[in-house]
Amino acid sequence: MGFNSAKKQKRAPRGGIVAALDVGSTKVCCFIARVEDAGSVRILGIGHQIATGVRTGAIVDMEAAETCIGAAVHQAEQQAGDTIREVIVNMSGGFPVSHSFNAEVSVPGPEVTEHDVHRALNHARSLQVAPDSRIVHAIPVGFALDGNRGIRDPKGMYGERLGVNVHVITASAGAVRNLQIGAARCHLEIDSMVVSPYASGLACLVEDEMELGAACIDMGGGTTTISVFCEGNLVWTDCIPVGGSHVTNDIARGLTTPVAHAERMKTLHGSAMATAADEREMIDVPQVGEEERGTSNSVPKSFLVRIIQPRLEEIFELVRQRLEQSGHAKLVGRRVVLTGGACQLPNTRELAQLILDKQVRLGRPLRIAGLNETHGGPAYSTAAGLLLHAVRNPNELPVSGHEAAASSGILGRVSLWLRENL
Ligand SMILES: Nc1ncnc2c1ncn2[C@@H]1O[C@H](COP(=O)(O)OP(=O)(O)OP(=O)(O)O)[C@@H](O)[C@H]1O
Ligand SMILES: [Mg+2]
Repeated sequence: MGFNSAKKQKRAPRGGIVAALDVGSTKVCCFIARVEDAGSVRILGIGHQIATGVRTGAIVDMEAAETCIGAAVHQAEQQAGDTIREVIVNMSGGFPVSHSFNAEVSVPGPEVTEHDVHRALNHARSLQVAPDSRIVHAIPVGFALDGNRGIRDPKGMYGERLGVNVHVITASAGAVRNLQIGAARCHLEIDSMVVSPYASGLACLVEDEMELGAACIDMGGGTTTISVFCEGNLVWTDCIPVGGSHVTNDIARGLTTPVAHAERMKTLHGSAMATAADEREMIDVPQVGEEERGTSNSVPKSFLVRIIQPRLEEIFELVRQRLEQSGHAKLVGRRVVLTGGACQLPNTRELAQLILDKQVRLGRPLRIAGLNETHGGPAYSTAAGLLLHAVRNPNELPVSGHEAAASSGILGRVSLWLRENL
């Protein structure tokens, strides 16, 4: 069932080349890679641009987005010495939401066959969503036989009713469509769409974490996204529309300094938690509108940390609440992996550990060859994970735009189906 044991065969990528496009709130990046043996990939080219026209992970200005996507892809193509037509793209805008659905079929023979499993999965596939949202993923996360759950592979087992639990992730139809348009305007076809926290988890978690249960938190510029893995599957995701850009804006407002300077101060002197030495260390703060005259204030570093810390606390409090509400907090156990550009402030891990009350480590892309120090950092976990999703083929039901476009709600369909079939 899991990430490793997936048997589903997908079309081989053209010439063994795969390309990933991460459309983030602060940067757009494109990874072009060659698929090597044993499902690993080697980077051939990387393109990286400051994001324009993207807010909270969603395209808000098509022209601006087209320009930066086009430039990132072109840069990666030049480095790779190859052109690409298809990309795997991330979905972080459009508020992706997780749903859990069950479908059940009766087993005609003495034991469950491959055919029965397919029937159960097909029932789950036919579940549909509201017209303003699209299914991005449908992941079978477990089977049940006659109500006994926790069965990984029911084939060959005895039972009268076969149930399947499917983790469905939907996102707003508008955000999905705009990504497709943005890609099309750069002459790219979207091979598949993967929600950002899923990709980041695939890139950062080690196999044991995915099996035993762990959460990956991707702290980006405009969003903080969460994924929970257990028994090798993605079981839940969520997205909070707050990230590192909010920290920067708080600094700009709090110290009346230009945003670009606030960003620089954050990365040079910022910290997630206060220390006693912060009172003694003084830092320069150029004032808004006074840049030419070179006038600046000097403030203790503790001023800066007192602005940063509450915002990060807010983010981790929200993560904790969402995890608790999800009902998956237990599955996570004590293991949390932080990634994304915004986890790089000193002491962020310690703060997360305090608020989440979990064992926290920092994560960066694993299992990808040819990434240098810069592009192997936590801001590139999503892009790396998109490549891994393509080559490792996690166990998922195919979702085409067509099926996803149908009109009745998933819940309605499930209850109708159960009423008709039980
Ligand atoms: N060295 C650093 N220290 C602290 N913060 C940093 C550092 N480098 C980058 N950041 C912050 O990381 C954030 C960008 O992270 P990332 O590149 O993961 O976001 P994104 O993918 O563009 O956005 P999103 O995932 O929200 O759509 C910015 O807010 C930036 O200020
Ligand atoms: Mg991101």
